[in-house]
Amino acid sequence: MQNYPQYSSKQKWIHWLTLILIVFTYLLILFKLTLSAYLGGMFNIYLFHKSFGVLIFVITLWRFIVIKQDGVPDVLPKAQKRQRILSKSGQGFIYLLLIIVPLSGYLMSSRPLNFFGVILIPAIDMPNKAYQLFHQAHQVSAYLLIALLIVHIASALFHYFWIKDKVLQSMLKCD
Ligand code: HEM
Ligand code: HEM
Repeated sequence: MQNYPQYSSKQKWIHWLTLILIVFTYLLILFKLTLSAYLGGMFNIYLFHKSFGVLIFVITLWRFIVIKQDGVPDVLPKAQKRQRILSKSGQGFIYLLLIIVPLSGYLMSSRPLNFFGVILIPAIDMPNKAYQLFHQAHQVSAYLLIALLIVHIASALFHYFWIKDKVLQSMLKCD
């Protein structure tokens, strides 16, 4: 057993699974033109993009339940007040965006959402103006999430390589 604060096993699985899904979701959009040849057209690109997005949304809801059950470890010492505030607000914004990005993605479309070709989630009927607004919200929030994640990852690596404390280790070693 390690002698530094640890996230629970479930929290670690959720954290790293979300990373993988986020990377896939972004890559699909980034390389949509190249990939559409392999996935049989743009329809399938969006089918996978949206389905991964839904998975991220559901896993985020599960994440909140697990946090409520398991709590959050005190990774940074209580004395480092400024760092704790920065870290907690960064994480708070990430939670918020993990909800806003998929939700705005769902709300921006007038067509039903085909979840991996298995479940059809009906669209919500709205005026065209509202769809456009959610479209903008999806774009802005998705890029804001990328920016926050870059800072988040850089901070984790900064702790590991520069400060040389155990912040990164608190999220490693899933059993
Ligand atoms: C966390 C999950 C998601 C992330 C990170 C994400 C990210 C993105 C990004 C970066 C774009 C490109 C924006 C642009 O420059 O035009 C995009 C486009 C799009 N997303 Fe998502 N998305 C997510 C979830 C969803 C969901 C759940 C849906 C629908 C149910 C969705 C539907 C779309 C559609 C239709 C586009 C194309 C928009 C266009 O053609 O301009 N996304 N998404
Ligand atoms: C290489 C990529 C990543 C690394 C090295 C990393 C590292 C870490 C570390 C060390 C912590 C614990 C920090 C603390 O409690 O002060 C943490 C927590 C967290 N990370 Fe990451 N992270 C990565 C990617 C991501 C991604 C892609 C997301 C979200 C999409 C994310 C969201 C979070 C959240 C919300 C927390 C708070 C604890 C939780 O609810 O799991 N991280 N991360």
